[in-house]
Amino acid sequence: MDLAGRHVVVTGAARGIGAALARRFHAAGASVVVADLDSVANVADGLANAVGVIADVSSEAGNIALIDRAERVFGPIDLFFANAGIGGGTDLDTTEDAWQHAFDVNVNAHRWAAKHLVPGWLARGEGYFCSTASAAGLLAQIGSAPYTMTKRAAVAFAEWLSITYGNRGIRVSCLCPQGVNTDMLRAGDAAVGRGVEVVRAAGIVLEPEQVAEVVATAIDDERFLILPHPEVRDYMVLKADDPDRWLAGMRRLQARILGV
Ligand SMILES: NC(=O)c1ccc[n+]([C@@H]2O[C@H](COP(=O)([O-])OP(=O)(O)OC[C@H]3O[C@@H](n4cnc5c(N)ncnc54)[C@H](O)[C@@H]3O)[C@@H](O)[C@H]2O)c1
Repeated sequence: MDLAGRHVVVTGAARGIGAALARRFHAAGASVVVADLDSVANVADGLANAVGVIADVSSEAGNIALIDRAERVFGPIDLFFANAGIGGGTDLDTTEDAWQHAFDVNVNAHRWAAKHLVPGWLARGEGYFCSTASAAGLLAQIGSAPYTMTKRAAVAFAEWLSITYGNRGIRVSCLCPQGVNTDMLRAGDAAVGRGVEVVRAAGIVLEPEQVAEVVATAIDDERFLILPHPEVRDYMVLKADDPDRWLAGMRRLQARILGV
């Protein structure tokens, strides 16, 4: 999809990957709705054809309100980027509330947005849904069961959307980075547990702007799987080829970094 003149919504765009995506799409000529729980003035202010919206995507009502507001401002949405995400939670002791919140933000938000976008896109004959999952959704997040499970589910939902609606004009992409230099990574234990140390040990940590550049190219190509860290593909191949060997390797990595 050529982004010039398109209407794009990016969630979780007050900082980090979302802010970089919003700025990159705007630079490509899109009108951008910059949405987040927190103030997005630092991203949206001063950009022509950009509007900041305070939105909580952890409920269906929050997604409906965001979509309505965006459509009132710039008309029908061409590309919706469900990027908002949270870490939090660690192992089997994770509280029920934390599990629920992780599913609501990291997975259900995608489902609720798609539920309210797809009918209009089918009527128009086109629409583009992008989500940010994680390499953890293809592999695993050592140290966090909720992150592993919710990101895996996000990848699965994106695949299902592509299969189900791809023949009817709806394009889908799924962004699966490894480490990116954002508050989530910097927050360490508070975000995805000590597994963050594993993320740092697993490979290069990219800047959000580098990720946004890879995403812009992938959207131009309308490619489903967006891997800013190309080595993730090699890990996926290893995992598919010999799951027991891959699991043993993950256990060795966990022992080396976390001592368990
Ligand atoms: N940083 C990494 O290493 C990394 C790696 C893989 C995937 N990701 C994913 O990338 C996405 C962006 O993360 P980031 O690294 O930029 O983190 P970040 O913490 O810098 O940004 C996340 C943004 O999402 C917003 N957000 C959280 N809950 C929300 C809600 N209910 N409604 C609206 N906005 C909400 C936050 O306010 C924040 O601005 C997330 O989905 C994350 O899981 C990050």
